Amino acid sequence: MEFYRACFRSKIRWDKLRLSLPDEIEKTLLHIRRSNRSTGVTGALLMVDQHIVQILEGQPGPVLDTVYCVMNDPRLEDIEGIIHEPADFRLFPNSLMFFRDLSDGVAASQNAVLRPLLDHPGALTRDEAYLAFSHFAGELQAGRLTNAMLMI
Ligand SMILES: Cc1cc2nc3c(=O)[nH]c(=O)nc-3n(C[C@H](O)[C@H](O)[C@H](O)COP(=O)(O)O)c2cc1C
Repeated sequence: MEFYRACFRSKIRWDKLRLSLPDEIEKTLLHIRRSNRSTGVTGALLMVDQHIVQILEGQPGPVLDTVYCVMNDPRLEDIEGIIHEPADFRLFPNSLMFFRDLSDGVAASQNAVLRPLLDHPGALTRDEAYLAFSHFAGELQAGRLTNAMLMI
């Protein structure tokens, strides 16, 4: 085993955001990427209306420490674990935290693999999460997304 991968969905606590949503996202991503640069953690964060879905990859210790920090973040609640397992490779090797806001539902309406991410009462399955994140990982690899989205 070389790497560890964790993926989870959490509900956003809107009452705990102190800034406007765009400012909160920008400030949080800056913080996340700075922190992940120092711990060697990479991954992706998708915002879906009332939830975020995040995937974290790296050495097991730093990934698990990061999961613990996110779990204790007051801006999130009802964390649901989706993937927790060793991994031979990273899906997002160059992304300190790839981010996409899917709340408008447009991307999800055009891609069947993104549809399960849209808010629904049931849990997101491991296979659904892998398909959705692999979609973005594939686009990054194929160079279809710009460098600005690589977040390096
Ligand atoms: C949706 C979301 C995702 C986060 N992802 C990460 C992450 O990947 N890495 C990280 O270090 N912190 C992440 N954080 C931030 C932590 O939850 C926490 O705010 C931070 O580690 C606290 O750092 P501080 O003690 O330096 O203030 C995330 C926060 C939110 C709201």
